[in-house]
Amino acid sequence: MAIKAVVFDAYGTLFDVYSVGVLAEELFPGNGQALSQIWRDKQIEYTRLITQSDPHNPQGSQYYLPFEEITRCALRYACKRLSLLLNDDKERQLMDAYNQLTPFPENLSVLQALHEKKINTAILSNGSHEMLNKVVKAAGFDAYLNAILTVEPVRLFKTAPETYNLALNQFACHKQDILFVSSNGWDALGATWFGFKTFWVNRYNFPLEEIGPHPTKVGRQLTDILDLLN
Ligand code: LAC
Repeated sequence: MAIKAVVFDAYGTLFDVYSVGVLAEELFPGNGQALSQIWRDKQIEYTRLITQSDPHNPQGSQYYLPFEEITRCALRYACKRLSLLLNDDKERQLMDAYNQLTPFPENLSVLQALHEKKINTAILSNGSHEMLNKVVKAAGFDAYLNAILTVEPVRLFKTAPETYNLALNQFACHKQDILFVSSNGWDALGATWFGFKTFWVNRYNFPLEEIGPHPTKVGRQLTDILDLLN
């Protein structure tokens, strides 16, 4: 496959957002899994709400909030929904855990392999620079990425085309020169609609989306992209 850069989604793709479930279970026994699930779903729902409610504003959505704040609000919502008492200390611990999410085990070796092949790589994420820098550093990925792109300059979230466009500006190339990699089926579809070549890392053996074109390729873990680029 001829491409100029591999661009990764961050949360769910490079980092396991459900790894916060372990701490959540310690803090709220019996609720860890439900909490991490509702937390993630609400976080993504808020990004869509903000984006869709003011999509054509040249300054970005007037409702824009940084991803860290959205993540905090989603955590508070998830706790209320499960009738869990979130005090300041527990909130701080859970938010700190988001800066140290467990990377999927094969990811470091894939980034190293792409680096050795001199293939450009970047993260393109809804996350804020501050959050992404912390989690990327904690995982030791920083040495192997050419860029960390966040949606902050456009003040919209994926799947707004303005967000995917950030990768084109970074690498000064055409849409079809980018391989966009995500484990989030909706993100893979949004990127396919945008015009990227796409790779869906189907980590949980989910069905393909029932709308839209399929991703260019599908695999089960990140190492599968190396076969494509050989
Ligand atoms: C991100 C979210 C979508 O990293 O997982 O952009």
